[in-house]
Amino acid sequence: MSMWKVTCRKLTLTFIVTIIINLFTLSICQDLTRCNNNANFSINSPYQRNLNDALSSLTADTSIRYGFYNQSLGQNPDQVNVIGLCRGDVEPDDCRSCLNNSITTIRERCPNQKSATIWFEYCMLRYSNVTLLRNLDTTVGEFLINPNNASNMEQFNQRLDQLLDQLRDDASTGGSLRKYASNSTNGPTFITIYGIMQCTPDLSENQCYNCLDAAIRQIPNCCQGKRGARVLFPSCNLRYEDNKFFNDTVVIASPAPTPPSSSSSGNSSNTTIIVVIAVVASVVSLVILVVVLVCVFKRRKGNQKQQRSPPENLVYEEGDMDEISTADSLQYSFGIIRMATNDFSENNKLGQGGFGLVYKGKLQNGQDIAVKRLSRDSGQGEQEFKNEVLLLARLQHRNLVRLLGFSLEGSERLLMYEFVENSSLDQFIFDPRKRGNLDWDRRYKIIGGIARGLLYLHEDSRLKIIHRDLKASNVLLDAQMNPKIADFGMARLFQQEETQGNTSRIVGTYGYMAPEYAMHGQFSVKSDVFSFGVLILEIITGQKNHTFQNGGVIEDLLSHAWRSWRDGTVASLIDPTLCGSSIRDTIRCVHIGLLCVQEDVNDRPTMASVVLMLSSVSLTLPIPSEPAFFVRSTTNPEKPLFEEYTSSTSDLSSQVKSR
Ligand SMILES: *[C@@H]1O[C@H](CO)[C@@H](O)[C@H](O)[C@H]1NC(C)=O
Ligand SMILES: *[C@@H]1O[C@H](CO)[C@@H](O)[C@H](O)[C@H]1NC(C)=O
Ligand SMILES: *[C@@H]1O[C@H](CO)[C@@H](O)[C@H](O)[C@H]1NC(C)=O
Ligand SMILES: *[C@@H]1O[C@H](CO)[C@@H](O)[C@H](O)[C@H]1NC(C)=O
Ligand SMILES: *[C@@H]1O[C@H](CO)[C@@H](O)[C@H](O)[C@H]1NC(C)=O
Ligand SMILES: *[C@@H]1O[C@H](CO)[C@@H](O)[C@H](O)[C@H]1NC(C)=O
Ligand SMILES: *[C@@H]1O[C@H](CO)[C@@H](O)[C@H](O)[C@H]1NC(C)=O
Ligand SMILES: *[C@@H]1O[C@H](CO)[C@@H](O)[C@H](O)[C@H]1NC(C)=O
Ligand SMILES: *[C@@H]1O[C@H](CO)[C@@H](O)[C@H](O)[C@H]1NC(C)=O
Ligand SMILES: *[C@@H]1O[C@H](CO)[C@@H](O)[C@H](O)[C@H]1NC(C)=O
Repeated sequence: MSMWKVTCRKLTLTFIVTIIINLFTLSICQDLTRCNNNANFSINSPYQRNLNDALSSLTADTSIRYGFYNQSLGQNPDQVNVIGLCRGDVEPDDCRSCLNNSITTIRERCPNQKSATIWFEYCMLRYSNVTLLRNLDTTVGEFLINPNNASNMEQFNQRLDQLLDQLRDDASTGGSLRKYASNSTNGPTFITIYGIMQCTPDLSENQCYNCLDAAIRQIPNCCQGKRGARVLFPSCNLRYEDNKFFNDTVVIASPAPTPPSSSSSGNSSNTTIIVVIAVVASVVSLVILVVVLVCVFKRRKGNQKQQRSPPENLVYEEGDMDEISTADSLQYSFGIIRMATNDFSENNKLGQGGFGLVYKGKLQNGQDIAVKRLSRDSGQGEQEFKNEVLLLARLQHRNLVRLLGFSLEGSERLLMYEFVENSSLDQFIFDPRKRGNLDWDRRYKIIGGIARGLLYLHEDSRLKIIHRDLKASNVLLDAQMNPKIADFGMARLFQQEETQGNTSRIVGTYGYMAPEYAMHGQFSVKSDVFSFGVLILEIITGQKNHTFQNGGVIEDLLSHAWRSWRDGTVASLIDPTLCGSSIRDTIRCVHIGLLCVQEDVNDRPTMASVVLMLSSVSLTLPIPSEPAFFVRSTTNPEKPLFEEYTSSTSDLSSQVKSR
């Protein structure tokens, strides 16, 4: 009993600490990356060499003090163009080190893309095979918002618009070395609105004006009424806040960087009045401040006792231009979803997932949805649940099932997803007749899609999500038979996710589980890689989980795959309906699958390498050694999720065959 309490406390504490760390990281790491996936270079290509050279020499010229760097190296078609731009108030040394950081980060996040853009708080960097200088680019946009609403929105917007218009004019006329402007204006209720705008200085005045104008026009779509926002284009950006976030001194020796301290009407006869107003205003704001502080403090104390509610004012949210940004816009009433699913009728039931029943539904606007009715209380408070859902909803990738919304009423927790037409992968690959619909090209694309979805979860999304239950029935197929991973991030909804750790609570499905996870509860991105390896082998063989039917003999899929590999009889593994397809590609996939199921975690590739291996046939693969064999002797390999195996870990270890 008391042990439970202690554990509970510990968990709660970890939870709070992690949330706070998360929030903190979100607010200070305001960086965003856009990798352009339309064109890639291959390893050791001339393009890569040019890129590395261009990046490393970008900031070499230390005489540049105006914060704009450009570099072009190589000849078409391998020419690389790079530009780096620092915010106008950043000192040259800080500028160079910001750009150095951005170079390191962008190469990690966009390892093989020919063009990419990264925005940091103090600088931005772009590279591409096309000429960048003097070319206006507003094709991709990103934004970051402070999710808090401005009070007195109408007046706020009016003042903001005036400020932004003025900044646009000032920045675009800035000259050929710097197109940057900062200023402030008085907003409603004693606040001051601060803003900056900047273009890359190579643009013409006209181009800069148009770019900033486009950025301003985004505000109603992304950031209406928010107290702070950044709109980021490759060629220009803007930012406003209700606190001072920039330095007045613009680094370059340009005419009189004015102290922008709020409003100043310089009429001497007004001065006394202004002083009086100012004094009254300061006293009033002081009183308000004290009151607010007391309130906040009291509420904190109350909250700690009951429900931990993370501080929200510092959170920055990021997104594409048309993205939802608050939990409210995602929340649906229980009634609406009940109606959409015909009161969760038996006819609408799509199946039983690991976390509850799934129903098909239709919203009143005609949109098809899939609704998951969560089976068990997650033990999370409402606010945490909302936060988690919001984070998951922001994970958007072609190969992930999109979370559209949620409902939370009493103990009912529903998740609403896009409806994916062609059910799940297991319905195809394990069905002797339907299997024929999936030729090798299709299967190869499915494997690649799953790999990219998983890579996004592991690396490209800010959250670093470990799926922990990847399997054929969690891969859905859309109308064009593109794979979409479902049920990702569920672990976050039920317990705080960590990037790596030990857990006594094992979730997952036997047959797909990495041995270190099944036995010791140790999970990491590499345990997902293991499940992915099993999945590849299943897709190629068309055989279910770990039981491989070879004539009359039943043995587990992994050991059979390994033996065929070792004996050079891989062709016998392959699903007979695939005959006539490229044997070489298929064997290469088996090879990759075997690498993913290596017993030693360090021998398994990351998903980034897997994606690379799948896309470049010329890449030499390491030789796999004997994989981990994990066989569960009891009859039901499809164990339900969230069983607690703490007490039986020793039991499990004994089921691991080691040969
Ligand atoms: C380029 O590589 C990325 C992964 O690094 C991949 O998502 C994308 O599809 C690739 N694009 C092309 C055209 O191959
Ligand atoms: C603003 O100026 C101060 C003092 O010079 C400096 O410490 C700080 O780093 C500057 N901030 C930025 C963003 O450059
Ligand atoms: C940035 O990197 C370049 C080349 O790697 C190096 O010469 C320079 O000293 C670095 N600058 C800073 C400020 O870190
Ligand atoms: C840039 O790369 C893309 C894709 O490889 C290619 O279509 C385009 O022609 C290239 N542009 C230049 C200027 O080399
Ligand atoms: C912000 O305002 C919108 C409507 O203008 C409202 O729906 C939303 O609840 C508000 N959000 C916050 C955090 O106050
Ligand atoms: C680009 O860089 C070169 C040398 O590195 C410099 O001479 C040129 O002025 C730069 N162009 C712009 C627009 O800054
Ligand atoms: C800031 O705005 C005020 C009022 O519009 C203007 O008079 C002032 O020149 C601006 N300052 C700068 C540095 O542009
Ligand atoms: C997938 O779904 C689409 C649309 O519902 C359908 O036309 C197509 O035949 C399905 N494909 C397979 C292989 O069942
Ligand atoms: C997990 O547990 C193992 C031993 O049980 C220990 O060696 C390891 O350091 C632990 N890892 C973490 C992240 O706690
Ligand atoms: C795993 O294989 C066994 C034996 O072929 C089968 O009975 C069981 O239903 C399979 N489970 C899944 C989830 O495919």
